[in-house]
Amino acid sequence: MLRLRLRLRVSRRAFLRALGAGLVGLGAAGISRLLSAQAQGRPELPPAKRGLPERQHAWDAFLRRDRWSNAVPPRFHRLIFFDVEGDPTPEKARRLEAALRALEHLYGWGPEGLLFVVGWGPRYFERLGLEPPIERPRPLTAFETPALDDFEGVLHLASDDEGRLARIERALWGEEGLPGDDGLLSLEGVLRWRETRTGFIGEGLPHERQAVGGLPETRPVPPEAPMFTGFPSGFRKNQASEDDVTIPDGPFAGGTTMQISRKRLRLEGWYELLTEEERVARMFAPQMRPEAVRALTDEAPTFSERFEEAATKYGVVGHLQAVGRARRGGKPLLLRRDFNTTDGGQAGLHFVSLQRSIRDFVETRRAMTAAEAPFLNPAIGPRVNNGIKEFFFVLNRANFLVPPRRQRALPALPGREDALEL
Ligand code: HEM
Repeated sequence: MLRLRLRLRVSRRAFLRALGAGLVGLGAAGISRLLSAQAQGRPELPPAKRGLPERQHAWDAFLRRDRWSNAVPPRFHRLIFFDVEGDPTPEKARRLEAALRALEHLYGWGPEGLLFVVGWGPRYFERLGLEPPIERPRPLTAFETPALDDFEGVLHLASDDEGRLARIERALWGEEGLPGDDGLLSLEGVLRWRETRTGFIGEGLPHERQAVGGLPETRPVPPEAPMFTGFPSGFRKNQASEDDVTIPDGPFAGGTTMQISRKRLRLEGWYELLTEEERVARMFAPQMRPEAVRALTDEAPTFSERFEEAATKYGVVGHLQAVGRARRGGKPLLLRRDFNTTDGGQAGLHFVSLQRSIRDFVETRRAMTAAEAPFLNPAIGPRVNNGIKEFFFVLNRANFLVPPRRQRALPALPGREDALEL
């Protein structure tokens, strides 16, 4: 009996390997049906798709580049927050991994297809009786009272196809399957939905979608702007690299941390009371000229070394100027994957950032606070004339660990390796 089971298992593995190697050609539906026959009572598990990076957050090599080699983010994003339904079990890890692999088989890894990461919050690890490898969220300034999210996990989906993200979410919650998914996607009984946040970034989109609260009715967001604030963003030299934000050692080596905060924008005054020059001073630095913003290529100069001069001489400090002081080896600490939103009919920003540890986020946020600026010049307040802080406020904060791909389904759960045949 034992020998028979062993033989069956080995041959199933060889079969899976052949599938993974592309030696056996099958559609997604075919794969899952055949595996079903082999599954010996366990939930089906498609083979891992070949060619995907071990780091979940390694999107950059798959993104398009603009003419200056800046990574162009996928145009649409969806954050799905969840808890594990009931107790975490190896079987649930297997079903979650099966759903994620099914998604990888259904779509190419990239903005034309789909990109995603799965992250896990402090409460998930506490539920396993473990010391969380990331800190709980907390208010980071004296002027905020955000809701501190306690979601156990998050799935960040991104694609250039907005409808696809909505369809995937419906399939994950078992509402409506996708052609070829063969029921593998439904996570009913595995995860419990808590909240969904959606958004977009890129030329044209903020202009098209500006008829919402927080923006004036004059439709001031220019067609070329990727963000509601009207300026270009995401220059490659103002971002940490994926290597920089990767956890170098320990049980989650190869992973990263993800901070997600929800901001509401109030840009009426931004557009109606400020000139372009004044907006540039607040977004970048008062020493930055509007013509120079229009000529930026792969780097926005921070003018951080002239922070004091900005405060004393101009009575205003810039956002980039302030955050640009939090660097390591001359490079920013955060890889920003943020995007605009109109959730709830309000203009906002889902600020998603990756960093080696949440400490790097806290340090960057502290630099952004620029608490010393009001002492350099009383014309500067904690919010007024102090970067862009007058024009948004934070509603929620959350922290997640993003493990490497092989640990993405219920990480650190005893028995998961066996269930996932790792
Ligand atoms: C409404 C909210 C925000 C908007 C519209 C915004 C926009 C921008 C823009 C336009 C830049 C210039 C360069 C570039 O994007 O490539 C920038 C840089 C940056 N921002 Fe923000 N930002 C916002 C909030 C934040 C928050 C909450 C943080 C986190 C603390 C942050 C951290 C950074 C960092 C680290 C840089 C690059 C700094 C460097 O080059 O050293 N931003 N932001």
